[in-house]
Amino acid sequence: MGSEVEGMYVRLVEAVKESVTIPVAVKLNPYFSSIPNIIHQLAEAGADGVVLFNRFYEPDFDLETETVIPNLQYSTSEELRLRLRWVAILYKQVQTSLAITGGVHTAADVIKSLLAGADVAMMASAVLKHGIGHVASTLAEVQTWMEHHGYANMGQMQGRMSQRMVHNPTAFERANYVQVLQSYKPEGGEGSN
Ligand SMILES: Cc1cc2nc3c(=O)[nH]c(=O)nc-3n(C[C@H](O)[C@H](O)[C@H](O)COP(=O)(O)O)c2cc1C
Repeated sequence: MGSEVEGMYVRLVEAVKESVTIPVAVKLNPYFSSIPNIIHQLAEAGADGVVLFNRFYEPDFDLETETVIPNLQYSTSEELRLRLRWVAILYKQVQTSLAITGGVHTAADVIKSLLAGADVAMMASAVLKHGIGHVASTLAEVQTWMEHHGYANMGQMQGRMSQRMVHNPTAFERANYVQVLQSYKPEGGEGSN
């Protein structure tokens, strides 16, 4: 049962918190039936932060040899959207800090993460692809953007585009799907007007 799996996570966090004094962050997958509910339970159990989301390394099939290929694929910025949506919804709704991992590649991705409400934006694939120097160049680009937009520090940006702060909070909700579909414009070819 889902609640048993959740209970396992909660007991694990309680046990870890009892045995260490350093802050504990829990990296979650996006497949819980209620993300806010599990985060609430983990915060109650003492989790200092949650990291959204773990990326599963789904294996591919090789059709020549009919074998399973467990190859590692780097992420792309496209994966960020799921994280942005959840952090924007969770900002100030849960008593734990929020980190984004998965799809943070560029300065724009870091800025979006902060605007959604993240305390931390993590990079793995981008650093592996571009080297460690990518961190400094990304930070410099973030700084330039902040200067152009009149932000003196990251705290001022944090959560500015969270669900509670945007003009149209329904943009983050399921009902908005209808609007999304209505906004679709064919790029040309069949079906275009
Ligand atoms: C080579 C490699 C090793 C990783 N090892 C771990 C690990 O030991 N523990 C973990 O939680 N995540 C691990 N990850 C996942 C990353 O921490 C990160 O969450 C994931 O790659 C998504 O972020 P990205 O889009 O910036 O790559 C690893 C990723 C890569 C590419």
